[in-house]
Amino acid sequence: MNTKNKINIQNPKGKLAILTPGMGAVATTLYAGVEAVKKGIALPIGSYTQMGKIRLGKRTENRHSLVKDLVPLAALDQIVFGGWDLFPENAYEAASHAKVLEKELLETLKEPLSKIKPMKAVFDNNFVKRLEGTHKKTGKNKMELADQLRQDIRDFLKNNGCDRAVMVWCASTEVYTPPTEVHATVKSFEEGLRNNDESISPSQIYTYAALKERVPYANGSPNVSVEMPCMQELSIEMSTPICGSDFKTGQTLLKTVIAPGLRNRQLGVAGWYSTNILGNRDGEVLDDPGSFKSKEVTKTGVLSDIFNKELYPELYGNISHVVRINYYPPRGDNKEGWDNIDIFGWLGYPMQIKVNFLCRDSILAAPLVLDLALFMDLASRAGMKGIQEWLSFYFKMPVTKAPLKPEHDLSVQLLKLENTLRFFTNEELINHLGLTYYGVDEGEE
Ligand SMILES: NC(=O)c1ccc[n+]([C@@H]2O[C@H](COP(=O)([O-])OP(=O)(O)OC[C@H]3O[C@@H](n4cnc5c(N)ncnc54)[C@H](O)[C@@H]3O)[C@@H](O)[C@H]2O)c1
Repeated sequence: MNTKNKINIQNPKGKLAILTPGMGAVATTLYAGVEAVKKGIALPIGSYTQMGKIRLGKRTENRHSLVKDLVPLAALDQIVFGGWDLFPENAYEAASHAKVLEKELLETLKEPLSKIKPMKAVFDNNFVKRLEGTHKKTGKNKMELADQLRQDIRDFLKNNGCDRAVMVWCASTEVYTPPTEVHATVKSFEEGLRNNDESISPSQIYTYAALKERVPYANGSPNVSVEMPCMQELSIEMSTPICGSDFKTGQTLLKTVIAPGLRNRQLGVAGWYSTNILGNRDGEVLDDPGSFKSKEVTKTGVLSDIFNKELYPELYGNISHVVRINYYPPRGDNKEGWDNIDIFGWLGYPMQIKVNFLCRDSILAAPLVLDLALFMDLASRAGMKGIQEWLSFYFKMPVTKAPLKPEHDLSVQLLKLENTLRFFTNEELINHLGLTYYGVDEGEE
């Protein structure tokens, strides 16, 4: 039985600002892609909000809806893009440098892309070692920098006639920094901002600024920000949704398809060796051991959670999991990943699986940014706050409310996302029980 919920989602009236700290390969591929779709010259492939269909009601009803027809999402022509970067290039110039999209396509989008000019970044070389830029803010302490970001948000909304905004982190991966005492509460964090605490990173300052302005925040990198207790407390206090972390795009996307499959069949795993070559600016930043450490944490966490060695000591008690990313400029954004998986089956007999994924990093990531922005705006209009676990589908390391463990299995993540959309719209939740001869979910009514 489906009890009616009391969620009342306001309609997406007016314009929505999608603000991205970082206007590099991923962000500009998103902006260009949305402009191309609006012009009718390309399809939004890879975007669940634009192309996804959801089953509704009983199996016998044969009822499906486009996701965007079921829930009131902002339309593409209601979106205005903005961002921050430590390089002053506009989005057309930055996209040309990123070399993800063909020149010819970019030329047709030159006019709207040239209009997107970055605001000055909050940047600190201690957290990203491989970049040197001049387009950055200065202030006497980190609180002043946060105030400047807040002012940027307000000015952007006013100057572009926007109703509301969402922020999705698309800037570089910072050096891995575990939470300290300063991240324990909003009070200690604000004190840290005023005292220029060195453990507060730029991405945490953006997160704080967004939440203080009631702007939903999604973390697309492995930077530690929405995981912090102070940010979770602030998101509740400001009634604003947050989610993260690290877009699940290439190798990890496949891991969360293959690994649950092996576990569900009770096949053992002795080792999983993953390596990548990548030649874009993200690859260059990740060539620094501190930034790579952040990626390693999100990339390796996936398998240890799926192959829970406490639950399955005979099958997964002794896995050797290695992840490497090698910066290799000739490939640019076209990443190549190799996985070698040593598995064992019935009576312990060994087998191997090889995966060779020749992907395009930003082509995989851009639709995820769009979906996250639209769903976070939806969540905000639905009055949601705190961590949005139903968006785990998009992340390598989904943030959950402690002490819950994240769910990594892509198909379970999709079920959760779909059921949340059904819940929002008072549609029946689907549990796939369907015991046909026992009168359960027979679709008789
Ligand atoms: N492409 C993917 O498949 C994928 C998957 C998961 C995560 N990510 C993450 O997405 C992020 C963006 O990736 P990308 O390929 O666009 O990288 P990129 O290097 O092309 O772009 C990042 C941009 O952020 C800017 N920047 C760095 N620090 C900043 C700051 N403090 N404020 C504002 N701007 C700042 C840089 O100048 C650069 O222009 C990275 O953190 C990456 O790890 C990407």
